[in-house]
Amino acid sequence: MAKELIRLVDCCMSYDDTQVLDHINLYINDREFLTLLGPSGCGKTTTLRIIGGFTTPTSGKVLFDGQEISSLPPHLRQVNTVFQRYALFPHLNVFENVAFGLRIPRREEINGKKKKVKLPEEEIRRRVLEMLEVVSLKGFEERHVGELSGGQQQRVAIARALVNRPKVLLLDEPLGALDLRLRKDMQSELKRIQQQMGITFIYVTHDQEEALAMSDTIVVMDQGRIQQIGTPEDVYNEPKNAFVADFIGESNILDGIMHQDYVVEFFNRKFKCLDKGFAPMEPVDVVIRPEDVDIVPVEEGQLRGTVTAVTFKGVHYDTIVDFKGYKWLIQTTDYHPVGREIGIVLNPDDIHIMHKSSYSGMFGDYSSYSEEYDEINDPTYVEDGEEAGYEE
Ligand SMILES: Nc1ncnc2c1ncn2[C@@H]1O[C@H](COP(=O)(O)OP(=O)(O)OP(=O)(O)O)[C@@H](O)[C@H]1O
Ligand SMILES: [Mg+2]
Repeated sequence: MAKELIRLVDCCMSYDDTQVLDHINLYINDREFLTLLGPSGCGKTTTLRIIGGFTTPTSGKVLFDGQEISSLPPHLRQVNTVFQRYALFPHLNVFENVAFGLRIPRREEINGKKKKVKLPEEEIRRRVLEMLEVVSLKGFEERHVGELSGGQQQRVAIARALVNRPKVLLLDEPLGALDLRLRKDMQSELKRIQQQMGITFIYVTHDQEEALAMSDTIVVMDQGRIQQIGTPEDVYNEPKNAFVADFIGESNILDGIMHQDYVVEFFNRKFKCLDKGFAPMEPVDVVIRPEDVDIVPVEEGQLRGTVTAVTFKGVHYDTIVDFKGYKWLIQTTDYHPVGREIGIVLNPDDIHIMHKSSYSGMFGDYSSYSEEYDEINDPTYVEDGEEAGYEE
């Protein structure tokens, strides 16, 4: 069973009068790969620095293995960090960069006396070589760091952080400086290293694809608050609010009304869905992922619209479809030319319902609002149970 390793309890952080973290509550299990994901300035690095001991929260507690460590300095925590701007020592070769942390004498108590203890040279050598092997840099010991590619330098930084055998590694956008291809290679490499070493990774990124690809758990943050915690599948398939739905993947987000369990109305039609537990006639946000929409001939559609733009994306076409002035993004492998009238079909599991939040109306529209949209949003709703949208 998963064992809890770190817990943040009600952590708040303010600089002067500005609150940058607002009651962060979070736990991280042993051997978990947890990612803090959110836009620039949302508080990811601050949260990481609190876990690492570089920043003391204005209020709240940090627990490690159940013990409070809020005032413990970084070097006494079983945590190591790879920073956003990792700095290798340019005058040292790869071997010495990795060995650096092992050469710092440790204070140990021997026979009641405090003594400085150095690791024997052969142990340093064995551990550095072992670590270079883990990060696929065997044979690079003598190289100077200036003679390495960006990805290789990044591996050295990771080896240097892991050689002290921390229980937890904190990584702050470690792949930020790499090009896309190398980033992808390093993503799977990091995941492999984490699993091979059996340690906990707390990873910071603002790249949602990276977070989905690597994490066991994703913590979505915005404006100093946790918006959602879940597996990659949870946050993608069951976003908690319009912010999460928009930040993770593409989303069409529409205003709807939840009539009863499993029945939602939008665009003046009722649709079956899989959601329940909302108040009768509760106004809701409806999320429809672009890849979930089936395009069908007009006469077979639950809704009909007109294609207004098409962009080829390699695997699929990004097709913008105008439904009486409200534009959706639909991703299809079939090409539908601009100007064509199409129908769409939505299955119950293509529709995801969210409570309204302070983010409602801010995201998920692929056009500006138009007059027609106001018209179809007319509250004098006419029920129409006969058409394909809803069957009793
Ligand atoms: N030492 C500081 N003094 C004042 N404000 C700070 C300080 N450190 C961070 N902040 C502010 O706190 C907020 C959160 O910063 P943080 O570095 O945690 O964001 P982030 O999510 O890591 O962003 P990015 O993706 O850009 O790295 C920002 O508004 C930032 O300006
Ligand atoms: Mg940051």
